[in-house]
Amino acid sequence: QIYANDSEASFDIAKRIATIIKQKQAEGRQAVLGLATGVSPIKVYKELIRLHKEEGLSFKNVVTFNLDEYYPIQPDAEQSYVRFMKEQLFDHVDIDMANVHIPDGTLPENEITAFCLDYEQKINSYGGIDVQILGIGRTGHIGFNEPGSAPNSGTRLVTLNDLTRRDASKDFGSKENVPTKAITMGIGTIFKAREIILMAWSEKKASIIKKAVEGNITSDVPATYLQTSQNATFYIDQGASVEL
Ligand code: GLP
Repeated sequence: QIYANDSEASFDIAKRIATIIKQKQAEGRQAVLGLATGVSPIKVYKELIRLHKEEGLSFKNVVTFNLDEYYPIQPDAEQSYVRFMKEQLFDHVDIDMANVHIPDGTLPENEITAFCLDYEQKINSYGGIDVQILGIGRTGHIGFNEPGSAPNSGTRLVTLNDLTRRDASKDFGSKENVPTKAITMGIGTIFKAREIILMAWSEKKASIIKKAVEGNITSDVPATYLQTSQNATFYIDQGASVEL
């Protein structure tokens, strides 16, 4: 779906998320959201906060699972995705922080495998993710599933691609300060979501969007796997669509 601008697209995505939250509320069930970080979803979160403050949208029945986190990182570090999510969304709505799940960047390395298995099991124990939102990195990564990620991959520790670390250097001051690893949900984890929304804004994303949408399905560009999903929709603005 191509929109005139990122604001209009973000409003529609927030509206869709709000509808799912309210539907579940009406059924007396919890809504399970898969959340993303980065610049792309910020306007979606702003609109969700507005819906909470001005239209009474409650997050009391909402459970969240974030896609990824740098490893290692402390949750209060400026670049941590825990901090990002608090600042951009959680601190401004009535969510119960016990319902929030974000991969733990502070674990000793020998506990990561067990943590990742548990993360998958927790998602399953809530009945799976109702809607997963995604950005896209210039390597074609979704979450931190870099080129080479298998379609059935699960939550795991990954090594970050050089281009990803270069793109993250604006947040860390320099590339050398960017962690070399991250914990991410896998492609298989993402595919289990009942609905997948990928968003991309501006011409900076145009060439990777062309590859993701029109290119051959390949592990070299993990976002191309989404071509095989019946449940995935790309929400992009005019800028990101110019090469299609
Ligand atoms: C990071 C995140 C991804 C995100 C990507 C794009 O790598 N781990 O989940 O999709 O950045 O970020 P942005 O939205 O800032 O372009």
